[in-house]
Amino acid sequence: METDRIKWNQRFEVEETYRGWNPSPFLEREIGRIQRLAPGRRALDLACGQGRNSIFLARHGFRMTSLDISDVGIARGEEQARAVGVEIDFRRQDLEEWHLTGQYDLIVNINFLLRRLIPEEVGALAPGGLLLFDTILESPRLLATHTPDFFLRYGELERIFGGFEGEVLFSEEIREGDMPTARVLFRKAGL
Ligand SMILES: C[S@@+](CC[C@H](N)C(=O)[O-])C[C@H]1O[C@@H](n2cnc3c(N)ncnc32)[C@H](O)[C@@H]1O
Repeated sequence: METDRIKWNQRFEVEETYRGWNPSPFLEREIGRIQRLAPGRRALDLACGQGRNSIFLARHGFRMTSLDISDVGIARGEEQARAVGVEIDFRRQDLEEWHLTGQYDLIVNINFLLRRLIPEEVGALAPGGLLLFDTILESPRLLATHTPDFFLRYGELERIFGGFEGEVLFSEEIREGDMPTARVLFRKAGL
């Protein structure tokens, strides 16, 4: 939606490095296992923002396609990728108006929730491909001020991924603290 693009552009413009350049701690923690198990090196970063996770993955040998609605975020990502010497195929895309095509060995979905896309993400994984999902979990504080649709429910990720053919390699819910989070590392069946 155009309003999302404007909102996120403003946010990226105001905050010089939104979330900084360090990757998601979950991705950083799992990178060894991801490198070991991913059947190939084609990777997709959904709602990549300024590309902190894409850049990290490119530095670890993945060929990245990275999508986000914000042209400001993407321009920052392109600049940073050039500065650190990695190539990333950044594309501006509104994911609400998009369907996933192609096949990937790794998909990362970090701090973004569009429920209808999840089955498409699993569908686009190569056999044995990995999906790392890490986003915000509901909490009384967040629900008081934000739309519930933006947050995962307790147990929701486990329920969703438990229904796909494959294996949940890791799952956790952190319900306390400033930013309650749910995460899953899923491996599609087939290898
Ligand atoms: C909290 S940020 C997370 C960025 C990145 N994944 C990270 O962890 O640094 C959420 C991102 O979702 C993007 N976004 C929001 N709505 C979107 C949409 N409809 N299509 C594509 N990207 C969208 C925003 O532009 C923003 O970059």
